[in-house]
Amino acid sequence: MKDRLEQIKKEAIEAIMASDVPEKLNDMRVRFLGKKGELTAVLKGMKDVAVEDRPKVGQMVNETRAAIEQALEETKGKMEQAIREEKLKKEVIDVTLPAKMNNVGHRHPNTIALEEVERIFVGMGYEVVEGPEVEYDEYNFEKLNIPADHPAKDEQDTFYINKEILLRTQTSPVQARVMEQGKLPIRMIAPGRVFRSDEVDATHSPSFHQIEGLVIDKDISFADLKGTLEVFAKELFGPDTKTKFRPHHFPFTEPSAEVDVSCFKCGGKGCRFCKGSGWIEILGCGMVHPHVLEMCGIDPEEYNGFAFGVGLERIALLKYEIDDMRLLYENDIRFLKQF
Ligand code: DAH
Repeated sequence: MKDRLEQIKKEAIEAIMASDVPEKLNDMRVRFLGKKGELTAVLKGMKDVAVEDRPKVGQMVNETRAAIEQALEETKGKMEQAIREEKLKKEVIDVTLPAKMNNVGHRHPNTIALEEVERIFVGMGYEVVEGPEVEYDEYNFEKLNIPADHPAKDEQDTFYINKEILLRTQTSPVQARVMEQGKLPIRMIAPGRVFRSDEVDATHSPSFHQIEGLVIDKDISFADLKGTLEVFAKELFGPDTKTKFRPHHFPFTEPSAEVDVSCFKCGGKGCRFCKGSGWIEILGCGMVHPHVLEMCGIDPEEYNGFAFGVGLERIALLKYEIDDMRLLYENDIRFLKQF
């Protein structure tokens, strides 16, 4: 019995040492210590051992089991250590290799232009507000003095959700929303996306951006409007920029004007950029129509104000001398990185 145990121990330890993968160790555990294992077979033979010898033999069996278990544990530990070292070797970082470039993208010209416009108006005490892109016909048209049969509705043909709800064609509805809140005076700009069913070309897109401006207070005059937009133009296009106000018509302002700035490329002499005229049109504006004030709950006898609307893409295209609006929507990083 003793020899048999010695032999099992020797065999087991040799086999365990010779194992090269952890799965084999498991096989060894089953083979020597398992229910049908060799050691268990010896235990089963205990009934043939003389009663007085049994404790001794039992102890020997236990010692053998302990020795095999220890061999298993040690070999397992060594294997794991080897695997870990191998892995570390493979994962070694070569610090002399050139670093991978981190691709962080680039601010869009629209964003750069918008932040510039916001900086200018916030500097003059304006608040930046937002309105919904999906808007009621009532705000997009009715409250801006554009009734159902008004031809301006045709010009701004858009995407209707149903008879009352549409994708806003302009940021002007934000004027009505802010006035209705009744917190006076108002000094705000409202940038945002607008929609019109236009075909895509170098200067048109069915979705573009506008920045609306609105000032409501007591005794606001056209001179305030002119002065404000002059400061704006000079800040945006340079201190030598001149502005020109041409009479125009917008249903929600009276009087209304379109504003041109002197061409910042040729200084007004006329060039390819300004199509020879020396002037570039940048925005629409006017004194808020008394009827619009009334519809939005403001007494036109007490308060008045001015409004303006400017195309964000138009500013980005001008400022960065981009000649095709479609480039702004492709988001090609090689294009964006130039600004
Ligand atoms: N909403 C006008 C448009 O999309 C632009 C505009 C003109 C806005 C005059 C104004 C304004 O606030 O006073 O054509």
